Parts: sequence; C-alpha cells; structure tokens
Amino acid sequence: MLTGKNILLGICGGIAAYKTPHLVRLLKKSGANVQVVATKSALKFVSELSLATVSRAPVLGDMFSEDSPGEGDRTLHITLGEWADAFVIAPATANTIARLSAGLCDDMLSVCFITLRPEKPVLVVPAMDGYMYESPSVRRNLSVLATQGCSILEPESGDLASGQCGLGRMPEPETIVETLADMLEPAPESLLKGKKVLITAGPTREKIDDVRFLSNYSSGKMGFAIAAAAARRGAIVRLVTGPVSLNTPAGVERIDVESAMEMMEASRRFFDDCDLFIGAAAVADYRPEQPVEGKLKKSGAAMDIRLVRNPDILAEFSAGRKQGQISVGFALETAGGIGYAREKLENKKLDLVAFNVYDRSTSGFEVDTNVLTLLDRAGNVSELPLLSKDAAAGRLLDAIEPLLYR
Ligand code: CTP
Repeated sequence: MLTGKNILLGICGGIAAYKTPHLVRLLKKSGANVQVVATKSALKFVSELSLATVSRAPVLGDMFSEDSPGEGDRTLHITLGEWADAFVIAPATANTIARLSAGLCDDMLSVCFITLRPEKPVLVVPAMDGYMYESPSVRRNLSVLATQGCSILEPESGDLASGQCGLGRMPEPETIVETLADMLEPAPESLLKGKKVLITAGPTREKIDDVRFLSNYSSGKMGFAIAAAAARRGAIVRLVTGPVSLNTPAGVERIDVESAMEMMEASRRFFDDCDLFIGAAAVADYRPEQPVEGKLKKSGAAMDIRLVRNPDILAEFSAGRKQGQISVGFALETAGGIGYAREKLENKKLDLVAFNVYDRSTSGFEVDTNVLTLLDRAGNVSELPLLSKDAAAGRLLDAIEPLLYR
C-alpha cells in the first residue's frame, strides 16, 4: 500500500507509544521507508533500541546531543522535511499538540513539523486521557492544526491507562496505516477539472450612512472552503466575496465586494461564462433605501430606516441561466426547516440545496464545522455528519460533480 513512500513517524511520550514498534513494522511491511523521530519522553515509554531495530534506522530526537544519531549532519532537520512523503505523529500528546500548534521548534519532532513541505500530508493521532482530550485547550490546539491542513485521526473509546473508560485510546496501528494509505492514494481525476466555477461567499454590508451598515455574522469560511476544494480539483474558480478576514485560497481568483448590489454586478460579469454557480454568501435581503451621506446624527426621537429588497442573486441567476449552468444554494434555518430548504430548491430553481440548521457551536456562521443535508432535484437526500467546513466542502462537491454531466 505504501511502496517506496518515505514516512516520518513522530512518537510522543504517552502510554500508547508502546504500540509504535508494531506500527513501524506494519509501515515497513506495506513497503514504506520509516524514519522515527521521538520526543525525550517517548523514549521513557518505548525503547530506542526496539524502534531502531524495527525501522532499521537510528532514532532521531535531541537536535544537539553529540550522541544523537545523525548529529554529523547539522541540516538533517531540513532535509528530512524534503525527504518525507508524509508525517505521522502517533501518539500525539496534549503537550506536543500544543507545541506544534504554537509553532515551537525545540526538538527534532517539532522542527521536522515546521520544515515539512506544505504540500505533504500530516496525520496527527492524539492519544491521552479522555478528560484531557475533551479539555478546551486540546480542542483549540487540534482545531489550529486542522485549519493548517493536518488530518486528525480521532481517538477511540475504551479502557484507558488512567483506569477510566472513555475516549482517548490510540486507534490500532492497522487503522493508522490504512488511514495514511488513503491519504497518500492519488485522488481520481475530478469531473470539475477545467470547469468554470463561480462562488459567492461571506456577508454583505448595506450602508446606513458613511460609517454604519447592516450586515450579518457570516465569516465566509464555508464559501472559501468550497473555493479551495474546487481549485484543488482543477476547477477555474472565481470567488466573489463580501468583507471577510480570510486568506485567498491558492489558485482562486478573488473579487471583493461590499453590498448585495455590488455582489450581484460582480457575479453577473462572470455568470454567463461559468459551468457551476454556488451561492454560499449570506446576502442581505434588504438595504436602506436612502443611505445618508456623511454621518447620521442622533436625536431624541425614535428612528425609522426604510429598507427595500435586494435582488436574490441566486434566484435571478438560476431562473435566467442560458448555458445550462448548474446552480447550487444554501438554506440556513434557525429551526427544523428542511421544508424551507425544499421550497428554496423549487422556488429558486436550483439543482441542489445544502440545508443547515443554525447552531452557535457547530453549524452555521463563524464556526469551523458544519452539518449539512444535501437535497437535489431528483429527490435524493444525503445527511452529512458533523464535519470540518473543508471536509463538508469536499462532500458537497462530490454530490455536485455528477450533476455537471447529467
Ligand atoms: N441568496 C442570494 N441573494 C439573496 C439572498 C440569498 O444569492 N439576496 C442565496 C444565498 O447565497 C443562499 C440562498 O440564497 O445560497 C438562501 O439564502 P437564505 O439565507 O435562505 O435566504 P432567503 O432565500 O432569502 O430565505 P429567507 O426567507 O429564509 O431569508
């Protein structure tokens, strides 16, 4: 499964480290070359001699020790980042997860993490006591690593060294090797390759006066995740976005706008030429009819601001499409509401609608995760689990791809 692949295996000081000689053996059996990088505490749980024997290479650890194997090569930490096809950190302890998420470089493992080439996959396999795993700091640090592109293999439930029974056990080495093999398998050629994709993202701002506006809490993360995923699949992506504080994904053409009217105009310029339109923006449905020039002054009386309807970008484009574009929308509802999503599919003449229920901590605006239900015109309903927005974007594109070739 891993023939000829160079695998850097980072081992940290947790009880699950005792399973790592078996993990090394499985990696070798799959055809991989393995270089072990262990933290100091890892070698209190598993012997250096065992690891060196099964990997058939000296174990690397302390960057400065004269006895450290490889000490003759002072640039080894850099060349390893180039050599590795993937970096697996198993078990990853709370301490190492914190160090990596903070960008510290105080041992060989953390330096290798920093010097690894950005396109190389990293698999982090946390293993620790259940309470530690659920602690806000570990959750936060793992989400930092996930947003940097690391894949996190969640621990399993079962008996823990602490005597507790719960979440925190390292998955078996067989599972780790299978996950890694999946990550390294070249993706099949995507049907999106060469397709022109137009995506709206983020909130819009509707001016009240020169210093105030009406808007919403959209962070743009979902639209940006879709744009990044489509670009990775070889699509030509244009992203029309309201004001957000996100970096432009690699290979994506970004067009910044502020109001719904500007978003409409910018999108119109590219719509005729696109194969797929995805409306992921939280477009304000209304705007102040007459924005005030300068700064509106307060008075003792109540204030009325008359609002007028903004165009529904998605609905107008879907209804008016001439070149057979595929059109996909989102339906965010605060309660129940799958019926509303079906209505949107019909009324806005969409090919697919992604329905999500607003939940402050897991789904909707600002958070990094989403729970989507995908509904298409043929009546197919696909309920996705709680996923990172990146993973949800991938699953959404998986559902859209066959529609492009109906
Ligand atoms: N949308 C759009 N232009 C608008 C409003 C919405 O393009 N003026 C798109 C959004 O990008 C999203 C979909 O329409 O893909 C659904 O938006 P939603 O928030 O459900 O708003 P509405 O359709 O206006 O429905 P509601 O009556 O619930 O506000």
